[in-house]
Amino acid sequence: MEVIIRPDVDRAVDLVVKLIVALIKEKPNATLGLATGRTMERVYARLVASGISFADCRTFNLDEYIGLPPDDPNSYRTYMNRHLFDHVDIDRANTHVLDGSALDLKKAAQDYEAKIDDAGGIDLQLLGIGVAGHIGFNEPLSSFMSRTRDKSLTPTTRAQNAEMFGGVSDKVPKRALTMGVGTILDARELVLLATGCAKSSIVAKAVEGPITSMVSASAIQMHPNCKVVLDEGSAKELQGRDYYDFVFANEPKWESFRRVDN
Ligand code: F6R
Repeated sequence: MEVIIRPDVDRAVDLVVKLIVALIKEKPNATLGLATGRTMERVYARLVASGISFADCRTFNLDEYIGLPPDDPNSYRTYMNRHLFDHVDIDRANTHVLDGSALDLKKAAQDYEAKIDDAGGIDLQLLGIGVAGHIGFNEPLSSFMSRTRDKSLTPTTRAQNAEMFGGVSDKVPKRALTMGVGTILDARELVLLATGCAKSSIVAKAVEGPITSMVSASAIQMHPNCKVVLDEGSAKELQGRDYYDFVFANEPKWESFRRVDN
């Protein structure tokens, strides 16, 4: 794992966007795993502004609320259309978001796994982190071998996402379909972005704490190609800060990122 700490949210977002753009330039038909949430809104705005072509890309989103049809204003399908798909040249048929209104959720989950396999797996999986320690909607005690399935959301997660539901936690769906931790770990590259002081405690647990299913995000420590991109606020409880900064300042592969970024 590599931890890259940028001075502010803008520069953290900028680095993540550059990683995605670099991948698409190298592999125009890349398969991207996408996340939703407030942190990612800036990533998608910046990706749109970059003008990069998604014409040959395929995408798979991490999760979707159960009970919300795709055209619900709060569905993650609507979120993705609004923030990314409506503004880029991606073929809509190549975008995949779980259907939270499916009658047979188990089948929807299995079909999703099959589609990811058919696509040859995910090249780069973008991740946020919830205050409950989740990646996707893998709440505490999610098996690290889990595949796409339905999960009950924690009260913490429902409170975190209440803003999109008029500030009322009770209006946030109680369950979601989500890629499993195992599905996420199968991606060839993970890029986790976290910003803001509210995430500093959970980021420290995920990055430096014990690997435990109580903090699903700690599973990323087992991934051989994982980058965690943070701003100062979300990084403030990390113990190994000096070393992470040293690596970013010295590793040749980060040179172009440092140069453009400073
Ligand atoms: C959403 C998802 C979640 C979010 C996480 C952070 O698709 O997978 O894991 O990334 O809850 O959400 P924000 O960015 O709203 O704090």
